[in-house]
Amino acid sequence: MQAANGHPAGVGRAACATWPAGPDNLAIVATRDTDWDGVRLHVVTGKGGTGKTTVAGALALALAADGKKVLLIEVEGRQGIAQLFDVPPLPYSERRIAVGLGTRAHQGGDVFALVADPESALIEYLEMFYSLRHAGTALARLGVMDFATTIAPGLRDVLLTGKAAEAVRRKDDKRRRTYDAVVMDAPPTGRIGRFLNVSSEVSDLARVGPIRGHADTVQKVIRSPETVVHFVTVLEEMPVQETLDGIAELRTLGGIRPGGIIVNMTRPLNLPPGQLEAAANSDIDQAQLALGLKAAGLDDSANLAAALAAELTAEAKTALGQQLQQQQLDTARQPCYHLPWLSGDIGLAGLYRLASALREQKAA
Ligand SMILES: Nc1ncnc2c1ncn2[C@@H]1O[C@H](COP(=O)(O)OP(=O)(O)OP(=O)(O)O)[C@@H](O)[C@H]1O
Ligand SMILES: [Mg+2]
Repeated sequence: MQAANGHPAGVGRAACATWPAGPDNLAIVATRDTDWDGVRLHVVTGKGGTGKTTVAGALALALAADGKKVLLIEVEGRQGIAQLFDVPPLPYSERRIAVGLGTRAHQGGDVFALVADPESALIEYLEMFYSLRHAGTALARLGVMDFATTIAPGLRDVLLTGKAAEAVRRKDDKRRRTYDAVVMDAPPTGRIGRFLNVSSEVSDLARVGPIRGHADTVQKVIRSPETVVHFVTVLEEMPVQETLDGIAELRTLGGIRPGGIIVNMTRPLNLPPGQLEAAANSDIDQAQLALGLKAAGLDDSANLAAALAAELTAEAKTALGQQLQQQQLDTARQPCYHLPWLSGDIGLAGLYRLASALREQKAA
């Protein structure tokens, strides 16, 4: 059994139905506060539209419980985090955007956020290595950055992951870590392997020199046990398949650790055992249902019962399909967490609800 975070067995109190719960796992559970103790860079990926940005935001709030300081980084440049937290558009520099989830013992810490774009990261990088801020600005005006990042997409990615790696490593003048955790709202599953595997991507471009050194440092952070990649999904065929493919790709690359599977927007259909199958097969006692509706004072109970029965059958079929998708996810043998579907505009209150759900399930 492997005990390190992100490895197939031995971590956590996961919600997956088939998560192994042998005595060894229980022993580990007893000594851990969360499934990801020791992890400092949480990369959040998933198929487009499954809730990556929402889950990354909720995870940041959850990680910032107990007075912890957390940085949330967006790399796709769409200002999704600003919209989510209802704050003005975020610049490249870090801004405090929210207070983390409070617990009985502690107030929530601070959540900071920034939008990392390759141009600003390159300017910062040039300044760090060559004191070249003005040159960087001039290069930006000339469009050199566009040119460089277009001919070498690997360079673009190393600059973005580099910003996260830098935040993870940063210390203040008393040598204390600036951030307890960094959460990255990352590119979707189809691009995540390439995005994180930057070292090999830039090797053709720069075999030696500071860019090479920078890429190697970034890779050290990404391939260390301090980094995991969480997959957000919904219980539908395509996103589940992409999740499994994404996890398999990371395992093939080696050294980049898959993290949790976060099943988002769940709407459990609470029927007693056996009744789900019956409902899916339209085996519903409509006469009984109509009697109940009539007793509740509803007119036209027969038609209403027929309509309700049809709806229940459709919902039950969906629920059975979701069970199958969950079984598929279980084959990945990664810790699994479930977040409820929230109706209406999620808003900050909804985000804190999702954060509590993540914390209750020991995802943070
Ligand atoms: N648990 C939830 N309950 C209800 N709605 C949700 C939930 N999670 C996310 N959503 C909604 O789903 C939509 C997509 O969410 P989000 O923007 O986080 O996804 P994404 O994966 O980041 O999308 P993109 O690929 O476009 O970046 C949003 O409207 C969001 O409010
Ligand atoms: Mg998004």
